[in-house]
Amino acid sequence: MSDFTIDPDIHRARTLSSSFYTEGRYFELSKERIFSRTWQFAGRADEVENLKPVTLLPGFLDEPILLSKNDDGIRCMSNVCTHRGKILVDESCNANLIRCGYHGRRFDLNGKFLSMPEFADVENFPSEADNLKQIPIATRGGFVFASVDPIAPFADFVDDVATRFNDLEPSQLKLVSKRDYEVKAHWALYCENYLEGFHIPFVHHSLNEIVDYGSYSTETFRYSSLQTGLDAGGAVAGRYLFIFPNLMFNFYPWGISVNVVRPVTPSRSVVEFLTYVSDESKLGSGAGTDLDRVELEDEAVVESVQRGIRSRFYSHGRYSPTREQGTHHFHRLIAEFME
Ligand code: FES
Ligand SMILES: [Fe+2]
Repeated sequence: MSDFTIDPDIHRARTLSSSFYTEGRYFELSKERIFSRTWQFAGRADEVENLKPVTLLPGFLDEPILLSKNDDGIRCMSNVCTHRGKILVDESCNANLIRCGYHGRRFDLNGKFLSMPEFADVENFPSEADNLKQIPIATRGGFVFASVDPIAPFADFVDDVATRFNDLEPSQLKLVSKRDYEVKAHWALYCENYLEGFHIPFVHHSLNEIVDYGSYSTETFRYSSLQTGLDAGGAVAGRYLFIFPNLMFNFYPWGISVNVVRPVTPSRSVVEFLTYVSDESKLGSGAGTDLDRVELEDEAVVESVQRGIRSRFYSHGRYSPTREQGTHHFHRLIAEFME
């Protein structure tokens, strides 16, 4: 699929072909090529008491998984019964085993098959296939991530950028709000807008008064990128960490806003905003004070691009070498995964 090649030299490169956003077959392909092979957000470790069902990207990957916590830590496994496929656990609960509500198959909390009524004479039973499939999981700073079929361990996705966050104490985070924004645009258009501060003076007039545009910086890593905005006094107003392909961790003086971009159709996405506060006294300082307004400004511009890229006259653009390194890096990763 060479139509998605992006020149590694930003000075020469053209942006991602518009067909990536407009053609339904690429949207479908991105499910297995991009989203199954990367890491998805599965909540906070302290939200898991014993058994917690999670769906990875509902409506898109739609993978039912089960987080299970015991003395050894958190595990992740398929939440689908190995008999005829019923979902095993519908709600968070405390239990000492998992019992399917359809025909009574039982599993232990590690997903190992325990028993099944009326199967006494079944040959080669039980076998490994009757255990619940284990799903790769990773925990970092109290956040939990899972992946259906990871191209690389989670450490490879974040270890390089993590060195920038040594000063953080994310253990005291409290979820204070959860909100979904519907965006009439392709998921990647939403992400690539997030990945540059180039548009701040044009699109976000109020934010532009807080963030010093001249010192705004972007650093790229293997599977992530980090943007840093300073205020007029040189203090960090916001740090914006993007983990490919769809996770945003925004660090503000008061805590972290997590955004999960969930593809719905090639022209629709849902962005989940989860607000975690560590220091309530600092709410209202830094760049994260008017998130709702900034979000609506971003949505308007991204939805306009969604209409624009359908034009017969548009297929590619070029990059600003000083302001669009994050978007260039994102397009290169898309091209790499879609190959
Ligand atoms: S589907 Fe679970 S026991 Fe039959
Ligand atoms: Fe923006």
